[in-house]
Amino acid sequence: MRIDIVSLFPEFFDAFFNHSIIKRAIEAERLSMGVTNPRDFSHNKHGQVDDTPYGGGAGMLMMAPPIFEAVESVISTYESKFNAFNLIDRAEVCDEMSLIGTPNKDIRRRVVFMGPTGTPFTQEKARELATYDQLVLVCGHYEGVDYRVEEHLVDETISIGDYVLTGGELPAMVVADAVARMIPGVLGAAGGAQEDSFYEPLLEAPQYTKPPEFRGWSVPDVLRSGHHKNIAAWRQKESLKRTRLLRPDLLERPLTKEELKILKEIVAEESEQLSD
Ligand code: ADE
Repeated sequence: MRIDIVSLFPEFFDAFFNHSIIKRAIEAERLSMGVTNPRDFSHNKHGQVDDTPYGGGAGMLMMAPPIFEAVESVISTYESKFNAFNLIDRAEVCDEMSLIGTPNKDIRRRVVFMGPTGTPFTQEKARELATYDQLVLVCGHYEGVDYRVEEHLVDETISIGDYVLTGGELPAMVVADAVARMIPGVLGAAGGAQEDSFYEPLLEAPQYTKPPEFRGWSVPDVLRSGHHKNIAAWRQKESLKRTRLLRPDLLERPLTKEELKILKEIVAEESEQLSD
């Protein structure tokens, strides 16, 4: 998969690209990433990319043309590598571009604007975005962006929460990180993503590591028993307990027979404890 970020601040992403899981995914060629600066597409010799809003108002807005051209450039770069692939050996190009997927299909691409007015970002959305061949994340800055970007360039706008940040860079990192870990092979052999909170619509059970005893608090015996079936049962129950306590909204869905049975046990145990 290819993730392109369009941002006025490419240096923001240096640490992100060099952090363990993303770095490993890039090295393993599961993922390739790049940042393109709209300033490189400025129509002005001073590299200007912002201007005052029509109709008045405070602050500056990012202009549409440099953003359109930056996005068009990452799209055509990816397309030319992809098309070259039909002429020569697909495997070679796949290798070069870190592509995974089936030969001779059309490019599946999603262009996303990061903005507080977008649809809320969820695990479900991360999983969906991870199915595209190319994901382009456009970061706004200053007081905003010429609305023609949202109207005519992007497929959708995504918000990472009901608050306003100074730019789309942190949201783009959040989205890129959540998407990258959904790509098969990125989390390595442990396959951790499938057990995470929100992969299944339940919160994760508590986890512990060494030491087994710390300041008088010990790790639950079952986790140290080596009995895999009991451990799985304990985790499922704790997961349901935690979800019921912290995110009861996640249980407002058709529950499995097993889940209903365990929830009944949890409720019975709680009322026993109350009557003690
Ligand atoms: N840009 C500024 N605030 C944002 C938010 N909450 N989500 C996504 N992009 C943003």
